[in-house]
Amino acid sequence: MNIVLRNFVFLNPNIMKKMLFITLISVTTVFSALLVLSPNKANGSMNHPVTPGTALPDSIQKIVQRACMDCHSNDGNGMARSHINFSKWTDYSAEKQADKAKDMCKQLTKGSMPTKGWRKNNADAVPTQAEVNAVCNWSAALNK
Ligand code: HEC
Repeated sequence: MNIVLRNFVFLNPNIMKKMLFITLISVTTVFSALLVLSPNKANGSMNHPVTPGTALPDSIQKIVQRACMDCHSNDGNGMARSHINFSKWTDYSAEKQADKAKDMCKQLTKGSMPTKGWRKNNADAVPTQAEVNAVCNWSAALNK
């Protein structure tokens, strides 16, 4: 009788399926509960607390305002904004700001930003070498 019962429970495919299903539901429920109750949830991901960003220093803000925000702002164009939106700079985390600063230095040094067409039409607003250096020094400080 015992053996018959055991065989019945463990070999019957319908009961096995039901048991598997119940196990899956339980595991999912436990993990969801852990996620919801996680104390670091308000800080973003569980093990990497996010440091809030800071406003651009005045010296950098001045350059960005003049040479970048025609495109990289809420009033700019969507393609540029998807990379950096200076209207939302202070919403970026410190980590993201440091990444973006590095990218700004790179694009300015290569001369690929501001774009060619913009440079042609705004020759007197193109960042000077001193301004490019200022952006790169600022980026280096954020990324050290
Ligand atoms: C005329 C519009 C325009 C201006 C002005 C402009 N950008 Fe851009 N920028 C764009 C566009 C469009 C893209 C997206 C290019 C793409 O996706 O290929 C972009 C992309 C970028 C990227 C991301 C590049 C990459 O491939 O990772 C950076 C960084 C950047 N711009 C920085 C700047 C900075 C800094 C300034 C000011 C000094 C500036 N841009 C001025 C239009 C502009």
